[in-house]
Amino acid sequence: MWGCGALLGARTRSRLWREVLVAWGRRWSAAAPYSASAEPSRVRALVYGHHGDPAKVVELKDLELAAVGGSDVHVRMLAAPINPSDINMIQGNYGLLPKLPAVGGNEGVGQVVAVGSSVTGVKPGDWVIPANAGLGTWRTEAVFSEEALIGVPSDIPLQSAATLSVNPCTAYRMLMDFEQLQPGDSVIQNASNSGVGQAVIQIAAALGLRTVNVVRDRPDIQKLTDRLKSLGAEHVLTEEELRKHEMKNFFKDMPQPRLALNCVGGKSSTELLRHLAPGGTMVTYGGMAKQPVIASVSQLIFKDLKLRGFWLSQWKKDHSPEPEPVHDSSSSGGLAAQKVTPRAETEESHGVAPMKGRRVVASVAYFRPEK
Ligand SMILES: NC(=O)c1ccc[n+]([C@@H]2O[C@H](COP(=O)([O-])OP(=O)(O)OC[C@H]3O[C@@H](n4cnc5c(N)ncnc54)[C@H](OP(=O)(O)O)[C@@H]3O)[C@@H](O)[C@H]2O)c1
Repeated sequence: MWGCGALLGARTRSRLWREVLVAWGRRWSAAAPYSASAEPSRVRALVYGHHGDPAKVVELKDLELAAVGGSDVHVRMLAAPINPSDINMIQGNYGLLPKLPAVGGNEGVGQVVAVGSSVTGVKPGDWVIPANAGLGTWRTEAVFSEEALIGVPSDIPLQSAATLSVNPCTAYRMLMDFEQLQPGDSVIQNASNSGVGQAVIQIAAALGLRTVNVVRDRPDIQKLTDRLKSLGAEHVLTEEELRKHEMKNFFKDMPQPRLALNCVGGKSSTELLRHLAPGGTMVTYGGMAKQPVIASVSQLIFKDLKLRGFWLSQWKKDHSPEPEPVHDSSSSGGLAAQKVTPRAETEESHGVAPMKGRRVVASVAYFRPEK
């Protein structure tokens, strides 16, 4: 999965930078060794006590930093993004929900400050990212159990490390797991400028796959097209262009896609299906339009298309030896151990990602850890 991080370099130079909640602490030249202190340290965190509109329910709070136990790691957060799933989790619309109150944020990168006596995988100064969703990364510091963390190289861009664990991995798995694609094969996707979409473009290009990338129209469409092409996109089309009659000639010069990646739903996904090769697969991983996938009966019957779904959290669960991850081993300042549990009703769960909510939370959530 490390390749995915490196592939994000171009993305970090552009839009991502604005999206990352930079929890700049002092950039530690050398991490402090752990020493038990009589007074518990205070740290700051973005906490929600009940589900609802993030702008209303998320609060900046001072928390006590828990003592570092034998298998624990004291981490100072360096940067944490706001992903659509973070918003959904706060709203209570996600497939996994933490016990409340909870600290927001599922992704991020932190630097190890100190480790417990039985920790062997990481040492002070190392960079770490969450192993699973639900860690609660929107905080200045925390004490986590070692198994909740994955060490990562510290010589990659900070924003790449902070956004490594969800979108690039999702893109990679969807490209690998549904169709046996060979170099020269093509893939079509919508919301191609999304975090996942940009990772798809870069990973596909590295694999020799040709991509048809659909985006929503905008006044500066050429700028977006140029940027996606600079990442490795072969074609960039607007939703409107995809619907045009002339599209029937489009695949004379390149193979029809055997894989479609759907982040949107509604009409956009119907169009993706229209261009899939017979026997091809459309994988739905997001539902940004908040509309169901509509597949034409004739496409299903005469082209034998396959409709599949992908959820990274489920993939991790299915491929993990651990039965149920418990992320925050400590009480972390009065908050209950942050354990995520599957939501009983998962309909319309992880796909909904209102950008409005994201912006609002970004302004609420922006914080500087210096005391
Ligand atoms: N299933 C999984 O395992 C998994 C993993 C990662 C992400 N996801 C999901 O994937 C989606 C994208 O995540 P991300 O972090 O890549 O998001 P992101 O970077 O915030 O991008 C959001 C994308 O959605 C588009 N969009 C927003 N509202 C839309 C609408 N009403 N109709 C059509 N397009 C719309 C945006 O297009 P504009 O630029 O035109 O607004 C943009 O391309 C989210 O739903 C997220 O929950 C799922």
